[in-house]
Amino acid sequence: MRLISSPARLPQAITYLRPSIHPSYTPTLAVMHLRPNPPITRSHPLPLTGQHHRTTVPQGPQLEVSLAEPSDSAALTEVFLRAFSDDFNLRLFPCTPDVRSWWVEHFRRDIELARSQHPSCAVLKVVGEGGVIAGFAKWQLPFVSASSATNGEEAKVHWPASSDSELCDRFFGDIHAERQKKMGGQPHYYLDMLGTSPDFNGRGIGSALLRWGLERADEAGVDTFLASTPQGRPLYEKYGFGVVREWEVIPGYRQAAMARCVEKQPNDRRR
Ligand SMILES: CC(C)(COP(=O)(O)OP(=O)(O)OC[C@H]1O[C@@H](n2cnc3c(N)ncnc32)[C@H](O)[C@@H]1OP(=O)(O)O)[C@@H](O)C(=O)NCCC(=O)NCCS
Repeated sequence: MRLISSPARLPQAITYLRPSIHPSYTPTLAVMHLRPNPPITRSHPLPLTGQHHRTTVPQGPQLEVSLAEPSDSAALTEVFLRAFSDDFNLRLFPCTPDVRSWWVEHFRRDIELARSQHPSCAVLKVVGEGGVIAGFAKWQLPFVSASSATNGEEAKVHWPASSDSELCDRFFGDIHAERQKKMGGQPHYYLDMLGTSPDFNGRGIGSALLRWGLERADEAGVDTFLASTPQGRPLYEKYGFGVVREWEVIPGYRQAAMARCVEKQPNDRRR
């Protein structure tokens, strides 16, 4: 689930419905316990202004979900390459020096957007033992879709030389098309990337990074969209996503467009 969004088309296309993150927040956004897996409840105050957010489950070590910094770009690239290391993903992004530097630059640009005064996305990290980055996510925050500015076309991306460019264009183009078809100009949260380093799998990091956006989506009263790898799908289903469409990208590798409707309370008039 990674849609490479062209930085060129993001800033001018953004029309904020409401600020999703207050400009005065501090980088540490949430403290979550490992393996809480609670249903999301509205009683959680959201850490939009820098207060820590604690889930109600009292036991277990804690992990912090915080905003990535530009100096994290190389470490995030390593987590990305380790998490997305199956045969299919290695065709998109093999572990070569040009792919590495492409991703370092990509993360750096996204992180700068995320830390700007009017962020269009949030790049999050979870740091594990020893100070290493164990997992990351990139959320695109709700804004009126770029489709009106680009007529629904995605800007041309220049992939790294070692990538299978034709496959990248088709794969990310299909995701973009599914998102346009399902969400159109409707404001929504979009989980652009989610990855946990294999050494840290199964410890609640992916869930915590997912909940970060879902809680905000519910609070903002908007739906959520993502495109799922086969590995991510059970996690997304657990948190209320349904499959919009599934397709075989190459023989044996299936991707699923998934959406989750905002939790609505009775008499909720936010949408
Ligand atoms: C999918 C992914 C993000 C999950 O991250 P994670 O930190 O392991 O997630 P969690 O610890 O919160 O676990 C989520 C669920 O996946 C299960 N899971 C995680 N790792 C697992 C493993 N190696 N084997 C079996 N199940 C596993 C957990 O049991 C958990 O289910 P449960 O809550 O019912 O027990 C991670 O596996 C990953 O990065 N995969 C490769 C990249 C990818 O596919 N990303 C998703 C893109 S759409």
